[in-house]
Amino acid sequence: MGTLFKNGTIVTASDMVKADVLVEGEKIVLIGQDIPTQGHEVVPCDGKYLMPGGIDVHTHLDLAFGGTYSNDDFDTGHKAAAFGGTTMHIDFAMQPKGGKLHDALDIWREKAKPAQIDYSFHIGVTDLRDEVLEEIPTLIDEGVTSLKLFMAYKNVFQIDDKTLYLAMSQAAKHGMMVMVHAENGDVEEQLRKQLLAAGKTDPVDHYSSRPPEIEGEATNRAAVLSGLTNCRLYVVHVTCEPAVEAIRRARELGYPVMGETCVQYFYVTRDKHLGAPGFEGAKYVCSPPVRNEEHHAVLWQAVKDGTLQAVSTDHCDFWYEGGVGPVQEWAKAHNGGDWTAYEAQDPSYRRPGKELGKGDFSKIPNGMPGIEDRMMVMWHLGVNSGKISPSRFVELNSTNPAKIFGCYPQKGTIAVGTDADILVWDPNASHTISASTHHMKTDYNVYEGMTVKGVPQQVYLRGKRLVNGNLWLGKNGEGKFVHRKPNAPIL
Ligand code: URP
Ligand code: ZN
Ligand code: ZN
Repeated sequence: MGTLFKNGTIVTASDMVKADVLVEGEKIVLIGQDIPTQGHEVVPCDGKYLMPGGIDVHTHLDLAFGGTYSNDDFDTGHKAAAFGGTTMHIDFAMQPKGGKLHDALDIWREKAKPAQIDYSFHIGVTDLRDEVLEEIPTLIDEGVTSLKLFMAYKNVFQIDDKTLYLAMSQAAKHGMMVMVHAENGDVEEQLRKQLLAAGKTDPVDHYSSRPPEIEGEATNRAAVLSGLTNCRLYVVHVTCEPAVEAIRRARELGYPVMGETCVQYFYVTRDKHLGAPGFEGAKYVCSPPVRNEEHHAVLWQAVKDGTLQAVSTDHCDFWYEGGVGPVQEWAKAHNGGDWTAYEAQDPSYRRPGKELGKGDFSKIPNGMPGIEDRMMVMWHLGVNSGKISPSRFVELNSTNPAKIFGCYPQKGTIAVGTDADILVWDPNASHTISASTHHMKTDYNVYEGMTVKGVPQQVYLRGKRLVNGNLWLGKNGEGKFVHRKPNAPIL
């Protein structure tokens, strides 16, 4: 007995076709017209789209960052992702300073034990010693084919140009991908110091410490090194015109450069959101910063013309009002100030969050929630407005991520033999996004009050239904690691 999705319109990156889809076990086994229903559980899909599950290739679950940890982990974050139609994500496993790349894998494998959707890891390289350089190709056997290097966050994750060059040279030899957070961290440090010294301490001043120029410069630097080393480069969270132009130029020169933007960079603005009165703007502090509408238009053009190939979230969520509870006193008495032990005892406790940066924007933990919202907001802003077609939506949110990161066609499409990660998408249903109903572990939502039309009514992971309307049917431990391949195509 299989599951038969009856009379839906299948949306792939190339086509929209009305057909039935039969799933047996974890795979799609047949696609056709009028497949007999006998012996199968039938899912009526009249008026619905059948799309491949979303793949979010840029998330930070349970990341130690900005003096705290991001809230969502491989339990809560997975559930939230699935409610929004995302059935796979790739998280950044960070190399501990002084440690090996395999240490990062071990730590993140442990974090991922409660997984409820499928997942994979990029390795964040923070300390490229000679033995670590040699270790890079050994990751391929582990199913990890992408490295991430940060050109910003001085004294935290930032690497220098020599490190970037060496990592790219090594990755290129083995068909691996290098991803960069492209901002000039040295210049950012100077701007930040000048701003704080001048008493500019508000959330909106974060913007002035990270202007588009330092993103464009770093993007261009990484792109040139990609051309020099012939290393596949994927620029994460592109926000602005100078960065898009650097990627466009590199691609015109034939360099193997690709890039993504994130859904929030189409919507959230410096003026309205980051510049909101009081401390409110802290909700929207992330790096690179959100930009105004003129950059949003550039990003739409870039995802339309193929300069950017994917849309992710950079999900890295913190409480707006965190550090709530009698933890400070308790922690001092019991654990030398370590709140993590307290949190384990009292789940209602909120770990520190955005409030850490009251009076100093540079201490606001950088990042935003979005793993649950990406597909619905992209559909609403992109497809409903006619900016992108349903097929381009699938391509940006699922197919290209799978191709670029070496797991296509197992993931990222609806075809015979692929994993049955299927969304039954209702293009006519509406949903009002709100922190009061979302599943992410945060006390605010970036899109609060936005009524989107087009929602994932049912979500299947490898043939098993995880979401049915508001009902959660997933189980901890059922998400699997996705083993990825090198030598992915350059799109
Ligand atoms: O502000 C951000 N983007 N936080 C997450 C870490 C990163 O830079 O991707
Ligand atoms: Zn980043
Ligand atoms: Zn990130």
